[in-house]
Amino acid sequence: MQNQKKSKITISEIMNKKKNKEKITMLTSYDYSMSRICNEANLDIVLIGDSAATVMLGYDTTRKIGMDEMLTFCKGVANGITRSLVVADMPFGSYYTGKEDSIGNAIKFLRCGCDAVKLEGGQEFIDIIKNFTSFGIPVMGHIGLKPQTTPLYHGYGSQGKTAEGAVKLISEAKALEEAGVFSIVLEKVTSEVSSIISEIIKVPIIGIGCGPHVDGQVLVIHDMLGLYKDIEPKFVKRYLDLAGKIYDAIKEYEDEVKSERFPTEEHTYHMAGEELAKLEKMLKRV
Ligand code: KIV
Repeated sequence: MQNQKKSKITISEIMNKKKNKEKITMLTSYDYSMSRICNEANLDIVLIGDSAATVMLGYDTTRKIGMDEMLTFCKGVANGITRSLVVADMPFGSYYTGKEDSIGNAIKFLRCGCDAVKLEGGQEFIDIIKNFTSFGIPVMGHIGLKPQTTPLYHGYGSQGKTAEGAVKLISEAKALEEAGVFSIVLEKVTSEVSSIISEIIKVPIIGIGCGPHVDGQVLVIHDMLGLYKDIEPKFVKRYLDLAGKIYDAIKEYEDEVKSERFPTEEHTYHMAGEELAKLEKMLKRV
């Protein structure tokens, strides 16, 4: 892999992309090896999503992942990235217990190499977000479907289907913008409302399941690489059948080991002839 040796993208560069009508590219990643590839591919933003709960740990909800687990994933990702902006998702509850606890948790993410934090929510977290930004901690907002809490009330359905719902989303986006977020993830919102929000709000709107009329796109990397065959939301495009490819490789390995076609001479180390002769003599004495 040839690294393009570009310097780290800045928050202003991300924000300017909206002004220049250049789409922002973002994917999730949870470990060092995958992050190196994202960096190599020149992605603008790599997000350590709390979706790590489901795709990496097999939990049934993102509410089950905690700070320590998230920090471990973040360290691996940050170590693999030189160019993309690294954003850490703050897990459920980690910004609920007042300004001091919340900023303490945000600082932990920056200390392990992340460049910004993301948190789910609107008006209810404005003071927390203002506090972060006043200390120079960049924040990405997240509204629309908020997987930490929305499913408890409404399931996983799309948002912004009614005029009232749309107005609520627009005012949440405005409140986040005023609080100083540098961008907003909008999840599973109708294309009409996503387009209106992208027009009204000055910071970049990064959509997942929001259609094309937003400033950037984000997907969970396991979904777009096809690592889980059983999960296929409508908004995901599968670019690869990675699960199928990994399965085939494992079966080929299994077959070659059993039939003694692996390892071959090219994978094998040898002693020098004289050392082997010496060893044989020693073994005879023993
Ligand atoms: O946790 C996550 O992966 C996310 C993305 C879906 C935006 O928040």
